[in-house]
Amino acid sequence: MFRTATALALAATLALPTLAGAEETSDPNIIARQAQMNLMAYNLGVLGGMAQGRIPFDAAMASAAATSLHQIATIDHGRMWPEGSDNMSADDTRALPAIWDDMAGFEARYATLATASEAMAAAAGTDLATLQGAVRNLGGACGGCHQTYRQPE
Ligand code: HEC
Repeated sequence: MFRTATALALAATLALPTLAGAEETSDPNIIARQAQMNLMAYNLGVLGGMAQGRIPFDAAMASAAATSLHQIATIDHGRMWPEGSDNMSADDTRALPAIWDDMAGFEARYATLATASEAMAAAAGTDLATLQGAVRNLGGACGGCHQTYRQPE
């Protein structure tokens, strides 16, 4: 768990995460949901880099990253969060039991993410100021869920 701390901290600041090859869980559901998260962070790294001026604004590159992120955000995640895969019951996961105590609230966070990533995909190819606003909103959708449902470092 701690081995991925650096990658997670980088993702949290919208930098490119390192790939999460270090996880050791053999549970395909946990592997799949962490892969979804890491692929989103990978694309958010491009958008965040442009928003912060570390990567020059490029409308086509921004659009591609945002469209991919939206597609990944909206894949069927129904089987990825089975009962008994919280961090008290399973290894190599930071998913808090709060998810299963409040599945409706958790799903609402996924819905908020889908709305924000759709807006991001629409905004990405326009101009830098619009991209910056959308990235802030999208980052809020990630962080809002993490704050409640993901174990802190
Ligand atoms: C609906 C809630 C929710 C939303 C929205 C969400 N996450 Fe997560 N995220 C989680 C949970 C829960 C975990 C812990 C999963 C685990 O360890 O099994 C996690 C884990 C992660 C990880 C660590 C993956 C690993 O290898 O351990 C990264 C990186 C991440 N999220 C990035 C993002 C980004 C970027 C966004 C927004 C584009 C986002 N997340 C949106 C709930 C969410």
